[in-house]
Amino acid sequence: SQRAVYAAEIPKAELHVHIEGCLSLELLFRLAAKNRVRLPFASIEEAYKAYQFTSLSDFLDSYYLATKVLVTEDDFRELALCYMANAYNDGVCHAEISFDPQAHLSRGVSLETVLNGLRKGLKQGKSKYGISTMLIMCFHRDKEARDALACLDKVRPYASWISGVGLDSAEAGYPAAPFREVFRRAKAMGLRCTAHAGEEEGCAQNITESLDVLGCERIDHGIQCIKDRQLLERLVREKIPLTVCPISNAALRVVPSLKEHPARDMLHSGLKITLNSDDPPYNGPAIISAYWAGIGAAYKAAATHLGFTRGEILQVAINSIEASWLSADQKKHYL
Ligand code: ADE
Ligand code: ZN
Repeated sequence: SQRAVYAAEIPKAELHVHIEGCLSLELLFRLAAKNRVRLPFASIEEAYKAYQFTSLSDFLDSYYLATKVLVTEDDFRELALCYMANAYNDGVCHAEISFDPQAHLSRGVSLETVLNGLRKGLKQGKSKYGISTMLIMCFHRDKEARDALACLDKVRPYASWISGVGLDSAEAGYPAAPFREVFRRAKAMGLRCTAHAGEEEGCAQNITESLDVLGCERIDHGIQCIKDRQLLERLVREKIPLTVCPISNAALRVVPSLKEHPARDMLHSGLKITLNSDDPPYNGPAIISAYWAGIGAAYKAAATHLGFTRGEILQVAINSIEASWLSADQKKHYL
């Protein structure tokens, strides 16, 4: 449709996407066969039908289970290239991509394997599609902070390969504050900081902790701030970018439906929001009846389901460049 085309034609940065959340069903089944990993589904069609989630933690069970098919460097290369091909179709000029090292280290897959593979895929994607990328190493908030510290120590020799750190996984009951020392050390290593916060109901406090205790410059999701007037006003005043993912939020039932997503209200409140995908193949089936709900689908959903005008869509795309970790000179090139 006309709308889909115009959403794809707008140059945009994607700031919130998990590379493990980019395991397309095609790649999932191909790697499972190659690496002899048993999947709980007999076919792609069966998996597609099963991708109906009741909550963030319900989704995370499927997400972490699927990571088991990622074994060799080449698997990670393919995974990265799969994202890049889709990002190109969606008009992405720059992507800041999260990865979850703890999900691999705990299975005996080394950080070298993960990083070498991802870098190869991103390099191939850059030469093929011209998309620049950065990597964000995420820690699991539902594991001990000392686990995250050990992980940060492991990445020290490769610190120049990553641009920042983040915090993800199950949120309710897992506050940000215990990760103070992890983020302090990451910053001392020259890394930028972001964190998932205020994704789930009742978790607005994590937004405040992510800013005040972890020193984050950006917030992933952050949608729960709409229930806290003072916090919302603070985020507006301090121009904190929020990487919002409407289709993911609908798929993981943190909002009742796509139509009821607060993204447009957030924009009208003066928040610096961006639109992003989160986990494209997981979010598509239940919400837009598609195998892939990438950033293009998020922009399209904003226009068709959330009432964003063309001007508002353009504002979001501009926000995405401004909220990126590109240098001032690089930003000027896109704006
Ligand atoms: N890891 C992958 N997707 C996530 C999400 N939506 N929230 C928290 N952790 C995640
Ligand atoms: Zn996320």
